[in-house]
Amino acid sequence: MSQPSQARRFLLRTHGCQMNVHDSEKVANLLCHAGLVATQDPERADLTIVNTCSIRDKAEHRLYSELGMLRNWKAAQPGRVLGVGGCVAQQEGDALLRRFPYVDFVFGTHNLRLVPTLVEASARGNRIARVDESGSLDRFDLPERHPDLEPSRPGRAYVTVMEGCDLFCSFCIVPRTRGREISRPADSIVAEAEALAAAGVREITLLGQTVNAYGRQSIDRGRARNAPHVPALVPFARLLRRLAEIQGLARIRYTSPHPLFFDEDLIRAHAEIPSLCPHVHLPVQSGADRVLERMRRRYRRGDYLRLVERLRSARPDLAITTDLIVGFPGETDADFQQTLDLIREVGFVDSFSFKYSPRPGTAAARLPQPVEPAEAQSRLEVLQALQREFTLSAHRARVGQSAEILVEGPSRRGGNQWSGRDPYHRIVNVAAGPRPTPPPGTLVQVRIVDATPHSLIGEIPVGPDPPAVMASGESVRIGAAPDEPHGYDRHHWRNAIPGA
Ligand code: 5AD
Ligand code: SF4
Repeated sequence: MSQPSQARRFLLRTHGCQMNVHDSEKVANLLCHAGLVATQDPERADLTIVNTCSIRDKAEHRLYSELGMLRNWKAAQPGRVLGVGGCVAQQEGDALLRRFPYVDFVFGTHNLRLVPTLVEASARGNRIARVDESGSLDRFDLPERHPDLEPSRPGRAYVTVMEGCDLFCSFCIVPRTRGREISRPADSIVAEAEALAAAGVREITLLGQTVNAYGRQSIDRGRARNAPHVPALVPFARLLRRLAEIQGLARIRYTSPHPLFFDEDLIRAHAEIPSLCPHVHLPVQSGADRVLERMRRRYRRGDYLRLVERLRSARPDLAITTDLIVGFPGETDADFQQTLDLIREVGFVDSFSFKYSPRPGTAAARLPQPVEPAEAQSRLEVLQALQREFTLSAHRARVGQSAEILVEGPSRRGGNQWSGRDPYHRIVNVAAGPRPTPPPGTLVQVRIVDATPHSLIGEIPVGPDPPAVMASGESVRIGAAPDEPHGYDRHHWRNAIPGA
């Protein structure tokens, strides 16, 4: 950096999905490699970067009020630098520079690698927006984690395998903010996962907008449109099998898949790969064919149900979660009832549900028959109440079982509790009691003793052995040995359906 004193400490404020969280991790790493230092304290920061989300209008409005606040932050000290990245930045480009004269630079979702250069340019007084879309594989070419950068999620890491989306569901802004689908070469993914495992990471989550479309460019469509030179892409299931061979990786997850891209091999992978977690987040959006068609989801309710059956025959204890939208244009009460029925039929362990929010430029924004906001709100509340029942019964059905928890840190519930996630991605809170809290990133065996609508309560079984010494990156067993060989129970979530 030519004038590092202008922006010595940086702070990242991140909104939105895991993809954005991971992009912020990548930006933080690039800034560390450029000689800057991370801080959590806005008062000490010389550079603030907001990583934005535009999936619904609420997220976008939040950015605009945040930028109002950051105007004061910037004015409080000369030389402070303010950057905006992410999906809103990608869409708005230099309009953001015009609307917010105190924003110094704007970068799009394909331009992360330019951030250090943009910071340097701002220090020289230039205001630049770089949001050019690129089909180049360069964007995957990022440095290894800088030694000064604390891992943001000890023991766990995201790994990007593909970006963008070619499906253009009618409600979704993502194909416009993240661009066309592009997959990362398998060797580069495997090399990153190996380096992470060697550094003590136990769980990786493979990320992509339609993650199981991985490799499609060269496999289904012959030569890739965006990257004709993409070397060594393999089908997604084969990528999973390569990753499963890496020593030390105890858990592999992926998010979010699209129902369209489950082939036989991927379904079999759920039966055959022990480290592939028994949880799939499988967005369905609606239970009514009329709505699915207007959403351009490319499957019908029956297709989705058949896929769930196939996945469950491969892995009977699979926990399935989903995304749902209510109040899509033209959604009738009968359509909505079909969505409620689908929740009952699948027995989703959890779901994220949203009121439809029209996004400018998407096909659905032009659809007639909007649902009244009050009606959409009431549908959302009914749906969420039903989901809470299913989540609570799924949790209750776990009581008495043992589970292997990957420790995340102190529990939000406070009171000397720590929390982590089980293989099904459920949060488990454990009272530390007289024992030391296990370090984040450690695997610990617990027994599930209680359930709440939001989490499970675990206890470390009391056994004859003294508490084990725990080393981060090691599987730790404290007290009595669990009775399940793999640390999870063969459990049919469907049996947890309320009243069933
Ligand atoms: N309105 C409401 N929800 C949306 N989602 C995506 N676009 C919209 C929109 N315009 C939801 C979908 C998607 C999740 C990430 O966000 O359920 O799966
Ligand atoms: Fe959006 Fe549909 Fe692509 Fe998912 S599959 S990112 S919902 S367009």
